[in-house]
Amino acid sequence: MNTDYKKQIDELISKMTLKEKIGQLNMIVTPQTEEEFEKVKQKIIKGEIGSMILADSATAGNDQQAAVDISICNRIQEVATKQGPHGIPMIFGRDVIHGHRTVYPVPLAMAASFNQELIKKAYRNIAEEAAADSIHWTFTPMLDMCRDPRYGRIIEGPGEDPLVGKRMARAIVEGFQNGNVANEDSLITCPKHFVGYGASEGGRDYYRTEISPYTLFNYHLPAFREAIDAGADTVMSSFNDINGEPVSGSKYYLTEILRNYLGFKGLVVSDWAAVYFLALQGVTANRKESAEMGINAGIEIDMCDGCYLNNLEELIEEGRVTEETLNNAVRLVLELKFKKNLFENPYCKMPEVEREEHIRCAYELASESMVLLKNNGVLPLKKEQKVALLGPLTYERRALLGSWCIDGKPEETASFYEKMFEKIGDNLWVASDTTGFYDTSAFVMYKSDVVVLALGESHLVTGERRSLSDITLSAAQKELVRKAKCSGKKVVGVIFCGRPIAMEGLAEDLDAILYAWHSGTETSAAVTDILFGDIVPSGKTAITFPRQVGHIPLYYNTTKTRFNCYYNDSPQMSYEDSIPTPYYPFGYGLSFTKFEYSDIKSETNEISLDDLKLGKKLKYSVNVSNIGDYDAKETVQLYIRDLVGTLMRPYRELKDYKKIFIAKNDSKDIQFEIGYEDLGYYLPDGSYIVEKGEFEIFIGENCLTANKFNLKVI
Ligand code: NOJ
Repeated sequence: MNTDYKKQIDELISKMTLKEKIGQLNMIVTPQTEEEFEKVKQKIIKGEIGSMILADSATAGNDQQAAVDISICNRIQEVATKQGPHGIPMIFGRDVIHGHRTVYPVPLAMAASFNQELIKKAYRNIAEEAAADSIHWTFTPMLDMCRDPRYGRIIEGPGEDPLVGKRMARAIVEGFQNGNVANEDSLITCPKHFVGYGASEGGRDYYRTEISPYTLFNYHLPAFREAIDAGADTVMSSFNDINGEPVSGSKYYLTEILRNYLGFKGLVVSDWAAVYFLALQGVTANRKESAEMGINAGIEIDMCDGCYLNNLEELIEEGRVTEETLNNAVRLVLELKFKKNLFENPYCKMPEVEREEHIRCAYELASESMVLLKNNGVLPLKKEQKVALLGPLTYERRALLGSWCIDGKPEETASFYEKMFEKIGDNLWVASDTTGFYDTSAFVMYKSDVVVLALGESHLVTGERRSLSDITLSAAQKELVRKAKCSGKKVVGVIFCGRPIAMEGLAEDLDAILYAWHSGTETSAAVTDILFGDIVPSGKTAITFPRQVGHIPLYYNTTKTRFNCYYNDSPQMSYEDSIPTPYYPFGYGLSFTKFEYSDIKSETNEISLDDLKLGKKLKYSVNVSNIGDYDAKETVQLYIRDLVGTLMRPYRELKDYKKIFIAKNDSKDIQFEIGYEDLGYYLPDGSYIVEKGEFEIFIGENCLTANKFNLKVI
């Protein structure tokens, strides 16, 4: 408890009735019509509502949502502070996931930028826009480590790597909060979904998970630990169960792990109706038992199912929930409101935000997020070339904004066609039919110098409750690629997707592939500038691209086994019918220039465990030369491999990375330091160990780099 407000909170709690306290734990949907407002007003006056979500439905990322009505929010505040019990203000939350009116790439794409400073800047901008729209609290960042691209929600998180997850977590929390959530233009953050939601079996949403303690501590918790350390004030509990125990009803995960082990001191909000879902998951018989289980597990705010509001009073009378538990929960809600300065400043009266700089930042981040997966020399294009543009996403706007884009406007997003036309005017040739099935499309392909195909997936097949069993492109798109190939022209595929897709049977027919993702408001501007070489691509995959769907799960930090398919040791041992290595591995991405890495240098190849424990660091350096024709950025990656461990250790683990700019014909010495916190891992009981023995340190351009140095911990 923050001592600044302790006295005021204690005083308030001593005056509140049981019902008023329970009301503080109840979150409802914000009213939108006058009629709804009048109904809600009466409830606020009775003290039945503590917080509101600015959403119209349970799956806000999928369904059309109304824009925030600032005047309604201010009227609600007026009722709460002037007519509600004790003048306690309302707090408003919304899912501000990867942009507000200005939309940035979906988080999985952002992760590919490997540029945490830029991500932080983006979230600072997003906070300014959202705060000016009455929003106090964002249900972000989504930190679910995920190894299955069929899962629609993979697009909302950082991907498969814990270090990328940690850096995204910090960048987003710090960007939103800006050092003090009391600032008018800061947002309270809510890392989610605690915990393990990204491990949904088969990539099916709202499904079960099996997560061993080893995997939990080493892969699912690190990003949450970092977000908490960065100052996140709230956490959202997840829908999934772990090994048969629904997390939203689990004292083990929400109290022992989150609070006692990770040291979280803030507030836990359930995911939407996750408390009620405990009954659907079959661990409670009804809503009353769900309320009992939820609050005793450690959930303070019950989102949108009324389980607490309607049952806690009885549960307390029956002694199944203690008043102390209730008071502690109310304390955390009040503390959040004090922290956000809502008692002093409940109304939103901020001037409209100037967005010019935000749009520039969205452009920069979109440009740095796109990954050049293949280029046989066709890119960059020349403005004098005649370009045939076809494909289902040629004129698309909405999909480019991605899922979980509630406040972005498609009409403020240029289509790919528009930006291409702006760039090359009459040298752009489009057919009346973008699918390539009518004669005119064949004609434009044959008559052009190069064919560019706008391929990909709709935002509607990504996000919540939108998993896919097949993550290849549709048969029609593959047919279009084949037709383009038959034209004899060079074919460039620009792929607008939220998730990585299975590339076999597609990539081979394309001469170049730019993975453009769903990169927000500035997607088309960034793609076009990359295609013509005005921007040199610098994104790297933060997620493995499999060859085939049947190879999932496929992730780089897999443990060392006798035969390993990722690192090509003996691929035929995995499957008889296919090559099991990734199509594009983790950390992979091309540039228009070429970088050359020197051997790794270090002062020592031996260190004692005691020195490491005392904080001694190992220093490594590598020289990276830009030997190509373009000034460009490169993400230099450091991986470790612990050769012998008590438990099996991964082939590679990313431990640091630096994104650097190197002018052509120039080179830079890149320094890294690693220490105790990088060389160890968590045992199943949650304790951290570094073990003596041999390690390999790799520094290179992606996870497959062979550029290594040996280290011995003695
Ligand atoms: C359900 C989603 O799982 C969660 O991410 C979101 O924050 C809530 N709905 C509120 O919209």
